Amino acid sequence: MAHPDRFLLAGVMGWPVMHSRSPMLHNYWFKQHGLAGNYVPLAIRPEGLAAALGALHPLGFAGCNLTIPHKQQAMKIVDEADTLARSIGAISCVVVSADGSLSGTNNDCYGFIHNIRQEQPGWRADAGPIAVIGAGGGSRAVCYGLAREGAKEIRLLNRTFARAKGIADEFGKPIDALPWEQRHEALEGAAMVVNTTSCGMVGQPSLDVRLDKLPKSALAADIIYIPLETPFLAAARKRGNRTVNGLGMLLNQGRPAWKAWFGIDPEVTPELRAMVERTI
Ligand code: ATR
Repeated sequence: MAHPDRFLLAGVMGWPVMHSRSPMLHNYWFKQHGLAGNYVPLAIRPEGLAAALGALHPLGFAGCNLTIPHKQQAMKIVDEADTLARSIGAISCVVVSADGSLSGTNNDCYGFIHNIRQEQPGWRADAGPIAVIGAGGGSRAVCYGLAREGAKEIRLLNRTFARAKGIADEFGKPIDALPWEQRHEALEGAAMVVNTTSCGMVGQPSLDVRLDKLPKSALAADIIYIPLETPFLAAARKRGNRTVNGLGMLLNQGRPAWKAWFGIDPEVTPELRAMVERTI
């Protein structure tokens, strides 16, 4: 045991939060590393976020993850947000320092890229144009990660054009915002297409994008993990495209969080993935 004299604590703050598979993931790692600790779901209303984050240090938490709807709001609460969080405009992970101060970072970008690498080992961001659908917080992390990995052309499509334009103006090259009406044609010649909208999530409508122009060689990725295969991914798979679902993004974003909280780099193993998959 690395910390036999301490009970390690971390959690995820969200509203709602009980659907999150993060506790399963982190508690698996506590067990695997023989550590006494727990990772708990924390149901925090938006108006309670500042007080909840302020309580982390007195309660002895190493930090927490943030999920909907707290990621952007937390930017105004933490003592310091790193360059990555500031660039993406959202915090996915809070780390409590020894003096009680709170620092925020964003591991969504790491999670997205590492999931793609793990599932498609030969993948390269500069293999050809990439179409990214959606322009919310998830899209900002995905666009930032793809640009950092060397993507040469990112075609950003969003129902509300102004949000896509906002990201393109802020991030600059290689992102181009295209009108929503062009979403079907924008897949022509693409090496990859990523859904970052909430469309296809359980209880939500399917993504309204036709895949007929998408080359069969293209990779289709979704950041949704409930269900594991969204209608968008199912349609892509049926026509012969390779697909990657969003579960590995969740699993991989936990790794840098553990490193920051507990100084350990845990592994995302096939066993861990299968265990979480069985609950979805
Ligand atoms: P997150 O931070 O999780 O990405 P968000 O900021 O609410 O969540 O963004 C949700 C994304 O899904 C947005 O791109 C949204 O499009 P708008 O900017 O036009 O709202 C997209 N989205 C949600 N429902 C949609 C629908 N029925 N059709 C197309 N896009 C949709």
